[in-house]
Amino acid sequence: MCYEDKKLFYEELKLIEKLLKCKISKTGLEDFEGKEKQTVLIYTGENRIILSGLGLKKDLTLEKVRKATARGVKKTRSLKIKKIAIEILQDQTLEGVQIEDIARAETISSLLALYSFDKYFTKKDSKDSKGIKEIMLFSQYHSLEKYSKEIERGIYTGCIIGESTNFARDLGNEPSNIIYPESLANLVSKRQKERNYSVEILDKQKLTKLKMGGVLEVARGSSREPRFLILKYNGGAKNEKPIVIVGKGVTFDSGGISIKPSAGMALMKVDMGGGAAVIGVFEAISQLKLKQNVIGLIPCVENMPSGNSFKPGDVITAYNGMTIEVDNTDAEGRLILADALSYASKYSPKYVIDMATLTGASIVAIGSVASIIMGNDQDLVNKLIAAGEQTYDRVWQLPLWDEYDRMINSEIADVKNTGQSRQAGTIMGGMFLKRFIGNYPWAHIDIAATAMRDSESDYDPKNATGSGVRLVTQFLMNECKK
Ligand code: BES
Ligand code: ZN
Ligand code: ZN
Repeated sequence: MCYEDKKLFYEELKLIEKLLKCKISKTGLEDFEGKEKQTVLIYTGENRIILSGLGLKKDLTLEKVRKATARGVKKTRSLKIKKIAIEILQDQTLEGVQIEDIARAETISSLLALYSFDKYFTKKDSKDSKGIKEIMLFSQYHSLEKYSKEIERGIYTGCIIGESTNFARDLGNEPSNIIYPESLANLVSKRQKERNYSVEILDKQKLTKLKMGGVLEVARGSSREPRFLILKYNGGAKNEKPIVIVGKGVTFDSGGISIKPSAGMALMKVDMGGGAAVIGVFEAISQLKLKQNVIGLIPCVENMPSGNSFKPGDVITAYNGMTIEVDNTDAEGRLILADALSYASKYSPKYVIDMATLTGASIVAIGSVASIIMGNDQDLVNKLIAAGEQTYDRVWQLPLWDEYDRMINSEIADVKNTGQSRQAGTIMGGMFLKRFIGNYPWAHIDIAATAMRDSESDYDPKNATGSGVRLVTQFLMNECKK
């Protein structure tokens, strides 16, 4: 990794020449000057060197390190390479950033950048990065030796978080004929055997007994039965209140009777991105052995039109007994979350955090660079915003002001599942959920803008991104530090 500053640029080249006992010629450098987004591939005998630009040192951020790492690593894609070695940037000048954080950030960003979802190609070609067997992180400075423990920890935790995010991406990218409520439940219960968390699965019969009207009604039009997943990780003390994380698990969202236009509908297989993120977080925290009790709730349904579907105008009753007028069957995520959020009360949680691909309006509001956060507890929201800044799995807050509340009033039921057309669509989702929360601090993260992408960027691929995994894992790690 090279800075743009002339002196630092040439110092770096000298170090590489010394380390690899080679000579880097001016022509080999092409037009590479260490500017952001620039990369160059240099052939030197046995090794190939990829330089990736960081820009000026005074403008350095941890995110620029992640991006430079990702760009460099991605350059290996078309090459037949088995091993890559990545330099750990030595920089002690970033405020609040330790060498461990740099090692972790580089590890995560390399794993995320190398991700591909290619299992359904029958012909394997060499363009994918699966050929890479080993990634090494190295430092050229002896002065870093005293930090070897921290660096190791950064790499170790980075591997876990990166792989857990990629696992969530895989779940999101799986088509809906493979991942549907029942198969997702089976997959997670197989997983619990390898990992240190448990899964309880509520089937249709149990959901009927519990009167989970939101989940049951949304699922009604599909031949796939609903499931409700309860994940448990007990890393904390026995009597410690758990943190509950809830994820929207709509394995395919056609919109139901309020059917969506066909363009782009295929991406609605990722409408369980919130649920996938919850599973990713459990994968991560169980391997990181966090000292925290965490419960995961994932209501899983497929939203389909049929002669048996719930319909606009229907009135349904949620788990907590509240009645909902269904104005639009495409606003289904909030209906299944209504059940899950009221169910969460039974754990007397310390915090409840939900993640959901809830509103297209959030994409209009903020684009694919951040998720939207809302909540009833500013302290919790602030903690999540901070974890977002640390990981760059960022969130931006919208208000849940009382003035919005009347917009979801119904003329025939306690609440309606839409607001006024074209007004504050993402906030309407939040206001609706707020009616169903219990007596606990709560934050709602609308990940619709970040969970699925229509083009790749740096370490995020096209399609499922696994957003939310890094954010909430970091939040839980921070909670443990106190
Ligand atoms: N799953 C969608 C939201 C979505 C849209 C996620 C695009 C990712 C990309 C959600 O169930 C939905 O359809 N929401 C409606 C709500 C509306 C009917 C009030 C929407 O956003 O249009
Ligand atoms: Zn929908
Ligand atoms: Zn949806």
